[in-house]
Amino acid sequence: MSFTADRLLLFGATGDLAQRMLLPSLFALDADGLLAADLKIIGTARSSMSDSEYRNFARAALEKYLPADRRGRMAEFLNRLSYQTLDATTLEGYDDLAAKVGTPARGLAIFLSTAPSLFGPTIKGLQSAGLTGDNVRMCLEKPLGTDLASSCEINDAVAGAFPENRIFRIDHYLGKETVQNLFALRFANLMFEPLWNAAHIDHVQITVAETVGLEGRVAFYDDAGAIRDMVQNHMLQLLALVAMEPPAHFDATAVRDEKVKVLRALRPVVAGETVTGQYRAGAINGAAVPGYDEELGKDSDTETFVAIKAHVDNWRWKGVPFYLRTGKRLPKRVTEIIIQFRCVPHSIFAGKGATMQPNRLVIGIQPEENITLSLMAKVPGLDREGIRLRQVPLNIAMQDAFSGAVRRIAYERLLLDLVEGDQTLFVRRDEVEAQWDWIDAIRAGWAAEGLTPKTYTAGSWGPSAAIALAERDGVTWHE
Ligand code: BG6
Repeated sequence: MSFTADRLLLFGATGDLAQRMLLPSLFALDADGLLAADLKIIGTARSSMSDSEYRNFARAALEKYLPADRRGRMAEFLNRLSYQTLDATTLEGYDDLAAKVGTPARGLAIFLSTAPSLFGPTIKGLQSAGLTGDNVRMCLEKPLGTDLASSCEINDAVAGAFPENRIFRIDHYLGKETVQNLFALRFANLMFEPLWNAAHIDHVQITVAETVGLEGRVAFYDDAGAIRDMVQNHMLQLLALVAMEPPAHFDATAVRDEKVKVLRALRPVVAGETVTGQYRAGAINGAAVPGYDEELGKDSDTETFVAIKAHVDNWRWKGVPFYLRTGKRLPKRVTEIIIQFRCVPHSIFAGKGATMQPNRLVIGIQPEENITLSLMAKVPGLDREGIRLRQVPLNIAMQDAFSGAVRRIAYERLLLDLVEGDQTLFVRRDEVEAQWDWIDAIRAGWAAEGLTPKTYTAGSWGPSAAIALAERDGVTWHE
């Protein structure tokens, strides 16, 4: 298992993800000397292209998507690339692909960034061409199914050719530096862990807000909706990282063992604890944007917003709601986690007129990484008319704390981990299935009750019912 691959085979090599993320990430790793000198990258897709045409295609993608300050000499990187045309659905062609891959000196990593309907045929093709041996790893990009049953089908097909310790399922949120910092915040500091439980935490909020709309992904998104596109994977992974017990080690088994326990402890949600929405025309940052139905060109019952009140039924989190919300065309792009602590058990200042607010930890994941702890402080003065207390922020801007550090995109880390064989930041089968299990039950509840999304104006924070979902518990969403 422990080898650094010297061949990387990219399925979907002409697709959107390859252009925006995979090629730029590989280039950036190469520029920093992080790829083995002998690593060869073979792209494959249906389009007919020669090696040199693919290199030109890759160059164009790098020029378009790499930030200007990270573009450098491209020739060496492009020389690593070659290309094989392939119709993944038929067995013919896989032998030619194998010939193009050649015999790896150490091992091969395969990255499948294609429609999930191609996963099964691709695995068969790889098997037929002898590309599934002990020195081959398989990496899968989402969506891994549309529900538990289809996800099991994909997982079974892959498991027919690769053992779990050679399967790497991507959730790109786990590749974000800021998400990994959650491990450090929780497990490299003494002061939070003793308070990290139902006795001291009132509730948790997780918001993943986006300003973008459909972005041309019409067919995919309309079939998925916000709950399957964002909650099933990214948001549940964030929730698991917040709620997990401390793992004994920072390694793939220990971390994923703890995450899956949380996912399995999620209480089934009743329909009344969810709110769905779909945006209508509005404005984002002053610019008019069309409604979802207009972008789609037809009516649809797909939700572009979802809010859920979740519970983790275990000792640590008994009675602590986790409010989750995500949506497209919200007022700003922000991902953040709020840990709302309880009030102090007794206020010694009550007789002096002072009011208290409970502490709150705001963990900003993107676009800026900020960790803010709100503390109560005394307003300076002689206090002849009573003591005044006010909330003041203790603010850690990671950007300033680590100003010299390169900010890497998630796929850089994940591709490097794949090539080197570290599964810690990849999702294990039991996690994916626990995630689907919980999501399927919510969707079944919606179907049983005939729930359809409420509309919201683009540029607002979703339907007003989402505000009510929190407010009826006396909770205000952090904005
Ligand atoms: C993807 C979803 O997984 O994550 C997209 O399919 C979403 O709909 C994207 O826009 C958000 O990722 P990020 O890294 O921009 O927060």
